[in-house]
Amino acid sequence: MTMTTTPSEEELHERFEDTIAKDRRIEPRDWVPEGYRRTMIRQIAQHAHSEIIGMQPEGNWITRAPSLRRKAILLAKVQDEAGHGLYLYSAAETLGADRDDLTDKLITGRQKYSSIFNYPTSTFADVGVIGWLVDGAAICNQVPLCRSSYGPYARAMIRICKEESFHQRQGYELLMTMMRGTPEQREMVQDATNRFWWPSLMMFGPPDDDSPNTAQSMAWKVKRHTNDELRQRFVDMTVPQAEALGVTLPDPDLAWNAERGHYDFGRIDWSELKQVISGGGPCNAERVARRRHAHEDGAWVREAAAAHARKNRERERKEAVA
Ligand SMILES: [Fe+2]
Ligand SMILES: [Fe+2]
Repeated sequence: MTMTTTPSEEELHERFEDTIAKDRRIEPRDWVPEGYRRTMIRQIAQHAHSEIIGMQPEGNWITRAPSLRRKAILLAKVQDEAGHGLYLYSAAETLGADRDDLTDKLITGRQKYSSIFNYPTSTFADVGVIGWLVDGAAICNQVPLCRSSYGPYARAMIRICKEESFHQRQGYELLMTMMRGTPEQREMVQDATNRFWWPSLMMFGPPDDDSPNTAQSMAWKVKRHTNDELRQRFVDMTVPQAEALGVTLPDPDLAWNAERGHYDFGRIDWSELKQVISGGGPCNAERVARRRHAHEDGAWVREAAAAHARKNRERERKEAVA
């Protein structure tokens, strides 16, 4: 005979801490402290929103891509971002989040997404620079998340990172092609680099001494490196790429520091990040309004899908009775 007793809150806590300490994954069936659940849902939802909103700046160029080949590549890339968003909303659902509720939070401005998508894309070179710098920064952020303590999130990240690395390469290849082109094309690449460099550095979030949640997230192993560590890694990785490309990164203080074994870089304007995150960026209102319209336009699809599912259930029920 086996006896099953309900474990106490304390025992559940111990089990949770033990899983984290042994570097094992937390799965949807496992008990988690409320703070962990809330933190994970917020992180995954903000990530999902970023993928979905991130379709817009480049999506604007699909109809104006300069060739069929560039259009096909861009379409595939933007479609990948939609897929990333869907995986991530599903991962958030395994923690008990409600997808409609998350969407509602996004379109009413109660939940954030990456500030980088609030900048306009004014030339086709922006498509290349976004692939190179924005997807490049996303990879730096996301590769360590493949070892996040929450299983469904970590596994989603593995596939997402593979696709992000395709995005980064397509951006770099586009820029290489433009740099071999006319002086005007080279000028476009330099101009896009000037506009996106600093906002890309801001993608890693506020500096460590102003990032109150970092310590807890590191303890829970939902985060593996601090914002400043990842930012430095991105700078170190990107400087040689800029040199190979032949563009100048817009920072006079950028210099190799042999003592540290890293590149030094200039001061980031954190007031700009604060302003863009709190809704005051060049495109915040436009991005959210467009997402809201798309959601309203899609209401009939969701209703039809729900009605179809209802009919199927009804049919199955009748067949089971008969
Ligand atoms: Fe993505
Ligand atoms: Fe991407």
